[in-house]
Amino acid sequence: MKLTVTMPRLIGVFLSTLFLIVSSFVFSVAPAAAESYTVKMGSDNGQLVFVPASLTVKPGDTIKWEMNKLGPHNAVFDTAGIPGGDGTLAAKLSKSKLMFTAGESYETIIPGDAPVGIYSYFCQPHRGAGMVGKIVVEG
Ligand code: CU
Repeated sequence: MKLTVTMPRLIGVFLSTLFLIVSSFVFSVAPAAAESYTVKMGSDNGQLVFVPASLTVKPGDTIKWEMNKLGPHNAVFDTAGIPGGDGTLAAKLSKSKLMFTAGESYETIIPGDAPVGIYSYFCQPHRGAGMVGKIVVEG
């Protein structure tokens, strides 16, 4: 008799423990899914480029633009260079403030609802010199 009372209780304890383990896994994994990346502005060997020139990210990820060499630099997205030609999104992603000092930085978060595709951007002072880059947003 005692056994029949104990077994369902044990099963209940087992299932709730299992639930706790699984749910803690889910909650601990979810925030870690958003990544942070750094794009250097100006290469270490003194070229007017973004490093890396192409970066693949997911919605929710953060891109840190870090002033490295040969400034001033900025990172500007325009309507023609992003999926859907969304001017509001282009403005939101853009960091037009010029940075002059090595180590200065700012961050852009790719919105969770950003469409997948290739986002082209450029440095305003050096666009003509080929200082352009792309962010590939994957689903
Ligand atoms: Cu530049």
